[in-house]
Amino acid sequence: MSQNKALRVVLATSNAGKVRELADPLTQFGVEVVGLSSYPEIGEIEENGTTFEENALIKARAVAAVTGLVSVADDSGLEVDALDNAPGVYSARYADDWESQPGESRDARNIRKLLHETASVPTEGRGCRFVSCMAAVRPDGKEMVVRGTWEGQLLATPRGDNGFGYDPIVYLPEYGKTSAELDPEEKNRISHRGKALRRIREVL
Ligand code: IMP
Repeated sequence: MSQNKALRVVLATSNAGKVRELADPLTQFGVEVVGLSSYPEIGEIEENGTTFEENALIKARAVAAVTGLVSVADDSGLEVDALDNAPGVYSARYADDWESQPGESRDARNIRKLLHETASVPTEGRGCRFVSCMAAVRPDGKEMVVRGTWEGQLLATPRGDNGFGYDPIVYLPEYGKTSAELDPEEKNRISHRGKALRRIREVL
């Protein structure tokens, strides 16, 4: 993919948290970012892969095929050592089998379930990592996928209001903060998604 200031890329995600973290860095790089909302005909894409890489490619391929544009998709999640790397690829839907409390968001319910499942895990066993696999697919079928990871410690109590998903319970020892206590630019510089995005950007 050659350097091209007018390159248009469709972001194959409707997750508002991810759109925020992906659109700005790509735009700063001179890429024109188009959202999925411009293509309502695409609808829900079934993520039936068993790895982050497979799911990222499924999403990016589907969107590139319909739009005829370069498509970038991220499949990401949280791996918890004490749970044999669950919730992993099921991070977004982890607590869909739990009843919501009144006014509770999907992210908050996921956190509640994860804290319940790890309640008896001691501090030294609470290692975890965010994983982001990012795929870029061109309409001519050329594709690539990269992986970024970010190591942390699972807290027992949420802290911070920034970010999305599991950010309030993932503590980054080298920053003395949770991911939800970092400001968005700082998170992008050091996160799993930021790392994967920089690798994908090199080839765009
Ligand atoms: P996906 O849309 O299937 O890739 O789901 C990703 C899910 O993983 C999100 O809904 C979050 O629950 C979680 N996740 C991924 N990246 C992050 C992050 O940067 N912070 C917090 N949670 C994340």
